Order: sequence, then structure tokens, then C-alpha cells
Amino acid sequence: MVSSQPKYDLIREVGRGSYGVVYEAVVRKTSARVAVKKIRCHAPENVELALREFWALSSIKSQHPNVIHLEECILQKDGMVQKMSHGSSSSLYLQLVETSLKGEIVFDPRSAYYLWFVMDFCDGGDMNEYLLSRKPNRKTNTSFMLQLSSALAFLHKNQIIHRDLKPDNILISQSRMDASDLEPTLKVADFGLSKVCSASGQNPEEPVNVNKCFLSTACGTDFYMAPEVWEGHYTAKADIFALGIIIWAMLERITFIDTETKKELLGSYVKQGAAIVPVGEALLENPKMELLIPVKKKSMNAQMKQLIKEMLAANPQDRPDAFELELRLVNIAFKDSSWDT
Ligand SMILES: Nc1ncnc2c1ncn2[C@@H]1O[C@H](COP(=O)(O)OP(=O)(O)O)[C@@H](O)[C@H]1O
Ligand SMILES: [Mg+2]
Repeated sequence: MVSSQPKYDLIREVGRGSYGVVYEAVVRKTSARVAVKKIRCHAPENVELALREFWALSSIKSQHPNVIHLEECILQKDGMVQKMSHGSSSSLYLQLVETSLKGEIVFDPRSAYYLWFVMDFCDGGDMNEYLLSRKPNRKTNTSFMLQLSSALAFLHKNQIIHRDLKPDNILISQSRMDASDLEPTLKVADFGLSKVCSASGQNPEEPVNVNKCFLSTACGTDFYMAPEVWEGHYTAKADIFALGIIIWAMLERITFIDTETKKELLGSYVKQGAAIVPVGEALLENPKMELLIPVKKKSMNAQMKQLIKEMLAANPQDRPDAFELELRLVNIAFKDSSWDT
């Protein structure tokens, strides 16, 4: 056992990012398996990331099968623990918010503050590991596309822009795969860079259209970043672009090696001589550039090709929104399966 908090036993480390460590854990009372992402709040960047993740996941009122579910978030300071709630007036929570706003630690740096994100545990690794350790399979690809578009439509309806969609942040849950023909469940995770677009202006009751909510913090991971994100003026259409890169790469098994981790990652790119360049960066330089989709003949039908081209349009307004995307993918999947039989 690694360490414990009265309610949970941490069993083993399953992931380590730049901001925190993720553990497989069990709930002591019920023996249920959960994942715990433990973030040490010793630097303002960590606090900001943790709060972003907390605000996004706790703002979702209902659950979606393809979005990671936050069971609770616990704030631990030295030996003390308390459940964190949105808008709480507890002094510990307010100190974290102040730290994030000021960009400097406002509490005694000698005391150890930790945030524990308790989530559903995904036992199948991430989308890279899952797909790259198996032969390409059309049924799996179709199921994954539908699950991802459904998750994105749900997030955008809930006014959340993810901003870091990539196969590392898409996790696989195999626990409910009892019959051999069932595909695993995908869960969109890692909301550390996400943004909840809150209502402003005259009618705070009116839902916000995430496709008109402009953001300016350039963030994400190079290969999945839309051209307008590189420039720092973008909306939820940036998520559509990232998903376009992921789906294109999945259908054609396009991978590259991450220079830092040396890991093979699913992601499409543009070739410029011997170098590979992120599609968004290349489009920023030359918005008229024609993308070579598909790279291999017969890896997708004409409708799919057209849809990916639109998802990767240089102009975000030419991309479908998440709701149209979901509809079109359902249509393509349905036609594909009826053609098969
Ligand atoms: N709910 C979970 N179940 C199983 N593994 C997880 C879970 N959440 C995260 N992980 C593992 O930990 C890694 C890092 O988690 P992530 O939320 O992406 O944080 P980071 O901000 O450090 O990238 C993931 O890539 C995955 O391998
Ligand atoms: Mg991550």
C-alpha cells in the first residue's frame, strides 16, 4: 500500500503527470475500486490546474458514460481532510482560489496541501496503448468515434471546452466488456486545461454557446492544436479540430514518436521534407494548404473523408459543431453497418 486517507487505500501508482500522481485505490467501506489523482498544491500552477479540473468536473450535473466521473474531491492539509465544494466559504478552499488568482502561494508553504480527485477507475490504459497493441479493427474504430463525439457533444452542451483532447487523455474501461463482441468504453479524462464558459452579460440564465465563447490562453498539445489556438483566439471549435486529428490518425494508424517520452502516439501531421509538422501549425502558415486525406487508399469512405476535412478546416467557422458532428458520425456508422450485411 502506498499511503492512505481514512476513506481510501492507495494500492499502486498508475500514472504520473507533471502535476500529480494517479493511483488505483479502494474505498475501505465497500472495497469498490476507484482512481485517485493526488495533486500537491505547492506551486500556483498546480493549484490552477487542480481548480480547473475541479470546476469543470463538478459543474457537470449529470453523468455521461464517456466522460470520467468525479465522485468527490478532498482537500487535505497536514492531518486534516475536508470535502471540497464549489463556491465553498471554507478558508482552505478560498486560499486555493486566491493562490490561483494571484499566481503566488498565499498560505504557509511549509504545510502540505493535497487535493484528492476520486474518479471511476479505468482498467484498460489509454487510447494509444489500447489501439496500438491491437490490429486495426473497423468496428472498434466506429465505436470509438461515436463514443468520442457523444462525449464532446455532452461537454459542449455543458459549456465545457476541454482544450487538451488527445489519445493520452482518453482512457479505456474494460470492466463491463463481458461479451466478446462488445467494444470497451472510452472515458474523456484530464480536465486540467479545460474551461467552463460561464454566463455573462444581460441574461445570466441563458445557456452559453461554447462556439461563441472566445478564449485566449494558448494551451494544448502541439500536434492536436488548431491553427487559431496557436494564435491565441479560439472557441470550442478547437476541440473539434483536436478530435479530427485523433479520428484521422485512428482510421489510418498514423503515429509519431514523442520527442520527450519517446512514446509512440496516435496523431496525424504534415510532412515538410524530412520533418513532421503539426497540422494546425502548417495551416496557420498556409490556410489554403490541401490536406492529403486519406493517406492510404480505401481507409475511409467519401463521407468520412469529407467530414475529417471539415473538422480540420483552417477556418473554425467551416468546422461542424459537436452536435452536427455526432449526427453525421451516427449516419456514417449506420450506413456502413447496413452496407456490411
Ligand atoms: N481514472 C483513471 N483510471 C485509470 N488511470 C488513470 C485515471 N486517470 C488518470 N489515469 C492515468 O494517469 C495518467 C495521468 O492522468 P491525467 O489526468 O491525464 O493527468 P496529467 O495532467 O498528469 O496528464 C493518465 O494518462 C492515465 O494513465
Ligand atoms: Mg493527461
